[in-house]
Amino acid sequence: MKNNMASLLGLCAVLVLVTINTVTGASYEFKVGDTRGWREPDANDTAMYNQWAAKNRFRVGDSLFFKYKEDSVLVVDKWGYYHCNTTNPISAFNNRKTVIKLDKPGLFYFISGAPDHCRNGQRIAINVLSLHPTPQLPSSIAVPPQPYPTDSPSPSPLPSFSVSLSVTLIPVSMALITTTIAIFFWGSP
Ligand SMILES: *[C@@H]1O[C@H](CO)[C@@H](O)[C@H](O)[C@H]1NC(C)=O
Ligand SMILES: *[C@@H]1O[C@H](CO)[C@@H](O)[C@H](O)[C@H]1NC(C)=O
Repeated sequence: MKNNMASLLGLCAVLVLVTINTVTGASYEFKVGDTRGWREPDANDTAMYNQWAAKNRFRVGDSLFFKYKEDSVLVVDKWGYYHCNTTNPISAFNNRKTVIKLDKPGLFYFISGAPDHCRNGQRIAINVLSLHPTPQLPSSIAVPPQPYPTDSPSPSPLPSFSVSLSVTLIPVSMALITTTIAIFFWGSP
C-alpha cells in the first residue's frame, strides 16, 4: 500500500514535470539579420531589420543572437530607439556575439552604438508574444497560430509548433493522471 502510494506520487510528479517542460516549449534562437548578421544596412536597404522582424514571431523564452564586428548592441527604450540616442542604454554589448534572452512579453528595442549606424537603419524593435495562446481565440486549439507569411524562400522558423504541441499534450497528461488515480483506487483492495 505504501509502495503503491509512493510510486503513484512519483508517476504524478514525473507527469507534472513533463507537462511543465512541454508548456514552457522549445525556445528558439533567432539570428538577427539571418546571414547578414548585425551591421549597417546598405543605403538602398535601410528597412532590412524591420523586414526581418516582420517575418518572424518571437515568444517569451526565445533569444536573439547578434553577430557583428566593429560594432555594438545597445538595449534601449522606445525613445532611444526612435531618436537613435546612445547615451543611456539599458545595457550595452560589444563582444561580437551577443545573445539576448527575450524573458518577458512586450516590446524590446535594440540599436547599434556605432556612429550613424542606427540612423542608417541598424535598429530593430521586437514584439515578444506571451507563451500561451490568446484567450479571445475560441478555435486556438484547432488552429494553432501561424507565423506571418513570408515572401522569402528561406524556411522561416516555426516556434508556434511548441505551443500546439503543448496544447495537445496537456489533456493527454491530465488523462494519464486521472487514469492512474482511478487504477490506484479501484485496483486496491
Ligand atoms: C542594393 O544595391 C546593390 C548594388 O549596389 C544590389 O546588389 C542590391 O541587390 C540592392 N539591394 C536592394 C534591396 O535593392
Ligand atoms: C540623449 O538622451 C540624453 C538623456 O538620456 C540627453 O541628455 C541627450 O541630450 C540626448 N542626446 C540626443 C542627441 O538627443
